[in-house]
Amino acid sequence: MASLSPASPAAFLALKERLRERPARWLVTGSAGFIGSHLVETLLGLDQTVVGLDNFATGHRRNIDEVRSRVTPEQWRRHRFIEADICDPDACREACREMDYVLHQAALGSVPRSLANPLATNATNVDGFLNMLVAARAAKVRRFVYAASSSTYGDHQALPKVEDCIGRPLSPYAVTKLVNELYAEVFARCYDFPSVGLRYFNVFGARQDPEGAYAAVIPRWTRALLLGEPVTINGDGETSRDFCFVDNAVQANLLAATTDDPAAVNQVYNVALNDRTSLNGLFAILRAALAEIRPDVSQVQPVYADFRAGDVRHSQADIDKARRLLGYVPSHGLQAGVELAMPWYVSRFGVHEVAG
Ligand SMILES: NC(=O)c1ccc[n+]([C@@H]2O[C@H](COP(=O)([O-])OP(=O)(O)OC[C@H]3O[C@@H](n4cnc5c(N)ncnc54)[C@H](O)[C@@H]3O)[C@@H](O)[C@H]2O)c1
Repeated sequence: MASLSPASPAAFLALKERLRERPARWLVTGSAGFIGSHLVETLLGLDQTVVGLDNFATGHRRNIDEVRSRVTPEQWRRHRFIEADICDPDACREACREMDYVLHQAALGSVPRSLANPLATNATNVDGFLNMLVAARAAKVRRFVYAASSSTYGDHQALPKVEDCIGRPLSPYAVTKLVNELYAEVFARCYDFPSVGLRYFNVFGARQDPEGAYAAVIPRWTRALLLGEPVTINGDGETSRDFCFVDNAVQANLLAATTDDPAAVNQVYNVALNDRTSLNGLFAILRAALAEIRPDVSQVQPVYADFRAGDVRHSQADIDKARRLLGYVPSHGLQAGVELAMPWYVSRFGVHEVAG
């Protein structure tokens, strides 16, 4: 497994300078969620004007409060929050008014959630997405950047995944994310509407929800390790993923929103590391990182259960397209990201005294 040390991607540094000099107005949907709240935090930190929208389906008010605590009062004054559902077209229209850029993150994530309730996933991820696309077009925003997904590769076997080679979807969630890309493409073709899709691969970091049946693997295992609960690996542990620290996803969003290269617009991009870590390897990394703070954790062993329906076996992104057209250079590898994320989970679940 290759390990990236924190880097300073030149294109992103230059962009941050430009944004500070000429602030813009941004709408972030899903802003009370994990990735959305990081986008809001970064944008406010760059003195941008930010409108956040969320209906708290899976996001939390405490994420917004945490962002507030991490920016200056002056930066916070440039933030407005709209509690609304993207299934409401009027709310979408109102939110998009006078925006320069839309970063559309609101969706119901999770493959198992979509298998349990495909109607709910479709309503938000397809109907809600289309509402946002229509509203953003009516508002004549400069760019609509949306959260696509690595699940779009479906049953395509080749590794690493290259953007224009996709397979058949393996879950209702994957269908919705593929439909997003199709709608964005058709809006470009029919209305000349500029968008960019970002296929995230297993994004992780602080504020990713550790609770509930649909929690992602890193927060779920971290929580279990900290609370002394069993860590369950679905399958033999050799399933692998390209885990992507949230700062890399933030970077990709800002580059995609602001690129003035016509060849870079109306495209989809992989957002990850071009690296692959097995679940067994991930478990070892999390356990080692937490053992620095909680030595008792170093003795914990995982338990193995059945493979999960709808999961792909291996996933790894080719990130050359994003590097070439957007100047995307991941700033953090898995190890560096885990080290930055763990203190948030430790403070959330407390540091217990080690017996003996
Ligand atoms: N985290 C990942 O690894 C990953 C991978 C691929 C794609 N994505 C996509 O990235 C986006 C953000 O994911 P996340 O991990 O931050 O998840 P999250 O659940 O933390 O954030 C999603 C936010 O959208 C909000 N939301 C859901 N339905 C809504 C609705 N109808 N109206 C308004 N708000 C609504 C939720 O309340 C939540 O705050 C999603 O589109 C997701 O599908 C995430």
